[in-house]
Amino acid sequence: MSNFLELVKTRRSVRTFNGAMPDAKVLDELKAFAKVLDNPYGIKVRFEFLDRDEHDLSSPVLTGEKLYVSAVVEKGDHADEAYGYAFEALLMKAHELGLGTVWIGGTMPRDKFEKASNLKENEVMPCMSPLGVTADKMAIKETLMRKGVKADTRKDFEELFFADDFGTPMVKEKAMEAGLCDALESVRLAPSAVNKQPWRVVIGDRTAHFYEKHDKGYVTPDYDLQRIDLGIALYNFEKELTEEGKCPKLEVADPGITAPNGTDYIATYRW
Ligand SMILES: Cc1cc2nc3c(=O)[nH]c(=O)nc-3n(C[C@H](O)[C@H](O)[C@H](O)COP(=O)(O)O)c2cc1C
Repeated sequence: MSNFLELVKTRRSVRTFNGAMPDAKVLDELKAFAKVLDNPYGIKVRFEFLDRDEHDLSSPVLTGEKLYVSAVVEKGDHADEAYGYAFEALLMKAHELGLGTVWIGGTMPRDKFEKASNLKENEVMPCMSPLGVTADKMAIKETLMRKGVKADTRKDFEELFFADDFGTPMVKEKAMEAGLCDALESVRLAPSAVNKQPWRVVIGDRTAHFYEKHDKGYVTPDYDLQRIDLGIALYNFEKELTEEGKCPKLEVADPGITAPNGTDYIATYRW
C-alpha cells in the first residue's frame, strides 16, 4: 500500500482533543508547508492559524482544542474546487505530522472565525479545522455525531465510479484491472460534508472525469460545500496517482457524457 493510501485509511475526523497546544516544531513544519502549497487551478488559498484564547473561539462539536486553522479564498470561478484541494492537502499533511483535524463548515460561530481570519469584502472562509493532539477517548457528543452521519461507512465502488458512461458501474475488480483501485479508494474514503460523498467519477482511456451529485442544502450565495468536497476528491486522486509514479494533469473540458439529473461535470484528470 502506498504511504498516501495508508494516511487516507488512518485519517478520521477528530473532535475531542487532550487540551494541549500542538508541538511547536510540528506547527512550524505545517506552517512552512502552508506557505508553499499550490493547487492545479492556480488560485491563492490563504491559511490563518488562530489561537483559541486570543480570539475567544470555540465550536459546539469540539472539546479540548487550543488552535484552529481557517482557509480563505477570493470569490470567483473554480474557487470552491481549488479551496477543497488546497485545504485537503494541508489537513492530510497535518495528519501525517500526527495532528488531529476535522473539516468544520457549519458548526462554528462563523462571524467570529471570519473576523479572526481578517476576511475581506471579496473573500470567503467556508471552513476551518481545529489542530491538536487527539484525546485517548472520544467525548460522548463526538460518538453521537459519528453515529448520526454514519461516519464509519462509505458508498460502494459501483455507486460512485463508472466505466465510459454513467450506465456502466465500475466494480472494484474492474478498477483493479485498470490500475486505479488505490486512487479511487482514496476518493471513496475522503471526508465530505455530512458524509454525503457527492463525488462521481467516470473512467475513460487514461482519463477520469469528476462530477458533483448535488444534495439539497449545501449551496450558499458565496460557495457550494459539495463542490469543496469535489476539490477534496481531486486532491486525493491526484496525490495517490502521483505516488504511483503517474503524472496526472487537470483540465476543465466537459466530455459531453450524459449525466443523471442533478449531477454536474467538474473536471478531468488525464495521465
Ligand atoms: C466540507 C466539509 C464540511 C464539514 N463540516 C462539518 C461541520 O460543520 N461539523 C462537523 O462536526 N463535521 C463536519 N465535517 C466532517 C464530516 O462530517 C466527516 O468528514 C464525515 O462525517 C466523515 O467522517 P470522517 O471524516 O471521520 O471519515 C465536514 C466535512 C467536510 C468535508
